[in-house]
Amino acid sequence: MTLVGRPDVVEQIGQTPLVELGSFSTENVKLYAKLEWHNPFGSVKDRAAYWMIKHAERMGTLKKDKSIIIEPSSGNTGIALAGISSALGYKVEIVIPEKVSEETKNILRNLGAIIHETSDDLCPRVGAGTDQSIALAKAISKPRPDIYYMPNQYDNDANFLSHYESTGPEIWEQTDETVTHFVTGCGTGGTITGTGTFLKEKNRDIRVIAIQAQKNHLLQGLRNFEESAIPELFKRRLGVVDEWMTATNKDSFEAVRQLVEKETMLVGPSSGSVMTSMLKMAHDLDHGIVVGIFADDGRKFRSLYLREKILTAQEYDKALKSAKYLPNVAYL
Ligand SMILES: Cc1ncc(COP(=O)(O)O)c(C=O)c1O
Repeated sequence: MTLVGRPDVVEQIGQTPLVELGSFSTENVKLYAKLEWHNPFGSVKDRAAYWMIKHAERMGTLKKDKSIIIEPSSGNTGIALAGISSALGYKVEIVIPEKVSEETKNILRNLGAIIHETSDDLCPRVGAGTDQSIALAKAISKPRPDIYYMPNQYDNDANFLSHYESTGPEIWEQTDETVTHFVTGCGTGGTITGTGTFLKEKNRDIRVIAIQAQKNHLLQGLRNFEESAIPELFKRRLGVVDEWMTATNKDSFEAVRQLVEKETMLVGPSSGSVMTSMLKMAHDLDHGIVVGIFADDGRKFRSLYLREKILTAQEYDKALKSAKYLPNVAYL
């Protein structure tokens, strides 16, 4: 598909809906989901990708019809960079762990990205000796700095800023300044540090809850911080986190099912991780307005959900047909 000459798509990034999860809220504890798949390329990472590209353009690093953007990604950042770049006139190469879903790889190819696969786990690892995807992206780009630009979402403050300047203010306004808890899964840490820092500047009593994946996980986009070091970007603002929770594959997938059944929503695995963590946390609260990030929808995960027996083919197809809040998108 081609988006060349469609720079207007970037104007659709952000201002995603915040919806109440009515079947999980109680009288005193209200749970809300921020539906990040309403971004034009389907995930929370559109924000970081756009801010990193804008920053590089401002610095004069990117040249139209010459520059190639290369980035290690477990999928969503790659998709966001590929979509935004094709709209703005840059080429993209993505270094991706081979375990990432076929649907994700197909979207990347459809958006014109060249894919390099590594045998990394589901997320590119950070830390000497384990970071195959990051090392390969660096090895390809380093000898040709005149052509290649690697945004490096793990160390690029534009990633943090995207959430400080957009996700945080949106949640503050959408909750009429009443949010009490913010919950999100963590990959680079951009979402939690940017949104969390903004919200705490508005009200320092807001609790910020970080979710990591269990070891050896199937939760695309998330990390386990024992398997993989904490990214530099995250380390610089680790103090914003009040509480850590670990989401298991089992609980996250169970929450994916519950969201199909109770809310007619078809979400990606990391939204399941957020849902199960919000429920555990809400159980101990007397009062609260809890906002969780639902990073992407379930349309990239049919093969995973069937393979892991989360949903049968029939259940998946029914859920897809009836799902609320799924916009038509050009990239699928
Ligand atoms: C599905 C999903 N959830 C959550 C995240 C976490 O985002 P961040 O990198 O801002 O920590 C990502 C990041 O790639 C993701 O793809």
